[in-house]
Amino acid sequence: MIVEPKVKGFICITAHPEGCAESVRRQVDYVKSKRKSGLEGPKKVLVIGASTGYGLATRISAAFGCGAATIGVMFEKEATGTRTATPGFYNTRAFEKIAEKEGLYAKSVNGDAFSDEIKAQVIEIIKKDLKEVDLVVYSLAAPRRTDRDGTVYTSVLKTTKEAYTNKTLDLKTNEVTMVTVPPATAEEEAATVKVMGGEDWEEWIRQLSEAGVLAENALTVAYTYIGPAITHPIYFHGTIGMAKKHLEKTAAVMREKFAGLGLRAYVSVNKGLVTQASSAIPVVPLYMGILYKVMKEKGLHEGCIEQMERLFSERLLLPEIPTDEEGRIRMDDYEMLPEVQETVANVWDIVTTDNVKEHVDIDGYFEDFYHMFGFHYNNIDYTKDVDIV
Ligand SMILES: NC(=O)c1ccc[n+]([C@@H]2O[C@H](COP(=O)([O-])OP(=O)(O)OC[C@H]3O[C@@H](n4cnc5c(N)ncnc54)[C@H](O)[C@@H]3O)[C@@H](O)[C@H]2O)c1
Repeated sequence: MIVEPKVKGFICITAHPEGCAESVRRQVDYVKSKRKSGLEGPKKVLVIGASTGYGLATRISAAFGCGAATIGVMFEKEATGTRTATPGFYNTRAFEKIAEKEGLYAKSVNGDAFSDEIKAQVIEIIKKDLKEVDLVVYSLAAPRRTDRDGTVYTSVLKTTKEAYTNKTLDLKTNEVTMVTVPPATAEEEAATVKVMGGEDWEEWIRQLSEAGVLAENALTVAYTYIGPAITHPIYFHGTIGMAKKHLEKTAAVMREKFAGLGLRAYVSVNKGLVTQASSAIPVVPLYMGILYKVMKEKGLHEGCIEQMERLFSERLLLPEIPTDEEGRIRMDDYEMLPEVQETVANVWDIVTTDNVKEHVDIDGYFEDFYHMFGFHYNNIDYTKDVDIV
């Protein structure tokens, strides 16, 4: 079948298997090119949310940077009939193939990470194959969660106080328009915390520990975002921010609860990047488009793989993990540099549809967007038939 991109809203509903494999290959090559000797890394790694974005980049960094055995959990769809699989499915296949070729253990579990059933499956795999894990990364970005009693919680991207109006980028027309984000109800806020907060992260750690498969002094990391004041009403002080605050509190709670095991629990504040999760947030695409341009001009731009390679080599692998005063790992250090943020804020004030091309890295934004689905790689022949299964 010839596979072409079919974009619907802020998502592409097709994915190219060879393009996704190319994306994984490039990330593997990047990590290998950066490999340093002498740094001892984790050897048995579980990544929850391992098939796209930050989680995939984490898995690649652990495997090809530290030589770690990896287990990845994801929620992806296989191909059916003429419908392609989701990119995370192809990414995972490609990752497993390269890992196998290089003699690295890699198992993947495709199912709902919130469920006890998937947790039990993962624990069984660890017991059988690895005995224990020494790093657990929680990189889930999920729209909803079905709880044990069958209740479905849906996360929303809204403000928590009054409505917030600001500029955004219409990704269909490339126009700078105004958007108003409404405030969430108390139930919507609570549901977002239920989905994207720390409850399920702690549940994973509890079950792994009770099953005796969490190594002594294991490390666990979950990802968060803070960003600049322009995005605070919708992100940091919004419903998703409430969930992220819960995630951060969970790290502190787990450090205490699992102190006997020597568990080291952190949140890492990552850079704002185009991923399937972040494209859905209003205001953010315009901020990101400006940020990309400013950071590229200053030679500071990074994608998921550059961020995660640096998370390992310059944070997690050090004898003492550097953090800010709140105990958070800061991978948004370049993004939040005053000279970056001042330039972004100046551009934000003057950007309009008329000058959008001059100030916003629309091409870079869309290049990342299409790459996520395996498209727009110059060394892939998209006119050729591919086996989507
Ligand atoms: N993208 C950003 O700008 C950014 C910045 C900082 C922090 N983060 C955080 O990083 C984390 C990962 O986000 P991302 O942007 O890489 O997202 P993503 O959409 O690329 O990845 C999400 C992953 O979660 C998996 N997943 C979703 N629902 C699942 C379920 N029910 N069961 C099992 N797996 C499931 C997907 O399969 C995928 O592997 C999130 O916590 C996000 O908030 C993102």
